[in-house]
Amino acid sequence: MRIDILTIFPSMFDGFLTNSIVKRAIQKKLVEINVYDIRNYSTDKHKKVDDYGFGGGKGMVLMPQPIFDAVDDLKKDDTKVILLTPQGKVYNQKIAYDLSKEKHLLIICGHYEGFDERIRSLADIELSIGDYVLTGGELASMVITDSIVRLVDGVIEEESHLNDSFNDNLLDYPVYTKPVEYKGMKVPDVLLSGHHANIKKYREEEALKRTKERRPDLLEKR
Ligand code: 6GU
Repeated sequence: MRIDILTIFPSMFDGFLTNSIVKRAIQKKLVEINVYDIRNYSTDKHKKVDDYGFGGGKGMVLMPQPIFDAVDDLKKDDTKVILLTPQGKVYNQKIAYDLSKEKHLLIICGHYEGFDERIRSLADIELSIGDYVLTGGELASMVITDSIVRLVDGVIEEESHLNDSFNDNLLDYPVYTKPVEYKGMKVPDVLLSGHHANIKKYREEEALKRTKERRPDLLEKR
């Protein structure tokens, strides 16, 4: 899979692309991730990418020209174009899973003060990562890219994401490691028993209990 990201702040991605699972997925050539500076597509002599909005109001608005030209340059027949904006559809694990099956994603990071409305016509889908306002789409694009990359075949062991919180709209069951007792808190006996059927039952019950307590809204979706 290939993911191309259009941004006015490319250096924000340096740490993201050079650490942990994302780094390894790139090294193993399971994903290709490219970050493009929107400024490089500006035909303006000062490489301008934004300007004042018509009709007044404060703040700068991303201009259509650099983004239209960037999309024209990068988009192919099998590309899905994603526009990041707090006005988009709220992202979730189901969308992550669907997007992880795509060949090529082109993600446009919006800017906090807004982008020219005509840029919307380029997008196949508009996404938001939740009901709060970020200064730009960059962090949102990293959230979305991270959650997709880990679902791409071969990036992590499949077992690790079959049990994810939100698969089946259930939160994860609790897990423990050594030591068996720490500061008076003990690992549940059943996990030490070696009895696989009982362990499975314990985990199912705990996942359900935890979801009921913390996220009853998820149970309604089941
Ligand atoms: Cl995608 N962009 C911005 N600027 N703010 C957000 C968001 C996106 N999702 C939630 N808040």
